[in-house]
Amino acid sequence: MEQGKIAILGGGNLGSSIVKGLLKSNFPGEKIIVTRRRTHLLENFKKEKVIITEDNCYAVKQANMVIIAVKPHQIFSLLSEIKDQIKPEQHILISTVTGVSIKEMGDVTGNIPLYRVMPNTAIALCESMTCIASMDTNQERKGKIIGLFDKLGKTVIINEELMGAATVLGACGIAFALRFMRAVSQGGIEIGFGAELSQQITAQTIKGASSLILESDNHPEQEIDKVTTPMGITISGLNEMEHQGFSSALIKGLITSYNKLGMLSKK
Ligand SMILES: NC(=O)c1ccc[n+]([C@@H]2O[C@H](COP(=O)([O-])OP(=O)(O)OC[C@H]3O[C@@H](n4cnc5c(N)ncnc54)[C@H](OP(=O)(O)O)[C@@H]3O)[C@@H](O)[C@H]2O)c1
Repeated sequence: MEQGKIAILGGGNLGSSIVKGLLKSNFPGEKIIVTRRRTHLLENFKKEKVIITEDNCYAVKQANMVIIAVKPHQIFSLLSEIKDQIKPEQHILISTVTGVSIKEMGDVTGNIPLYRVMPNTAIALCESMTCIASMDTNQERKGKIIGLFDKLGKTVIINEELMGAATVLGACGIAFALRFMRAVSQGGIEIGFGAELSQQITAQTIKGASSLILESDNHPEQEIDKVTTPMGITISGLNEMEHQGFSSALIKGLITSYNKLGMLSKK
């Protein structure tokens, strides 16, 4: 199967981020079709030659890869709308939708190669962490999907049962990390920096901390040990944060999100 057009059905927060990432990775704009009902909100992409339409069936007919990025309650009516246009020899269907299983999608679409992916909004900058799950045994197709998302950040193949956990850690994780960043940055203002400079120092410091882990196999605590002088200022601050429940708050927050996801999926 030739690499043809990519259709993104649902150009909202994530769908638009995927379009931005594709463009940043030099995927040609004229090979991207993006849909939503309020198409005027996608006008910005026109200058990049991206095809914008509200017609999901038209988008599917033009494309080989179809990425679904609508809300969970919208996916089944969308699948019913496009199912007659999806051909096993032409299409791969890729869902970003939280809490909807491959089996549930397959019950509507029939015999179509189906993938579930869980990226995050950093996909706009080709810095996503994308978890991928599928039952597809066709290695060529699998390679194409991995190759596509590798260009948009890092990818990992997981069992579908871990998709809920991937949603919380990877997708919600962006919000958790940014709230952490906001808090640190506000602390920076209290100790003397202007808001802008405090944010800049905080963001680059967090990026540096991430790189220290991503570019080594070190455990975070090994890198922390290098910064904490006995009786020093770093360990005093860290221990105070732990006394106030820092790690515990983060872990409890993650588990709360995970439990909420479980409750919503059962509805
Ligand atoms: N946001 C994230 O960080 C993230 C990360 C990973 C996965 N996800 C998953 O990605 C999906 C989308 O999330 P989101 O945050 O991007 O939501 P969102 O901003 O609400 O985007 C969904 C978009 O779908 C469009 N839409 C709804 N019905 C449609 C239809 N029948 N045909 C075409 N477009 C339609 C809506 O636009 P109109 O109203 O104009 O049609 C809306 O812009 C969700 O299932 C979510 O679980 C999100």
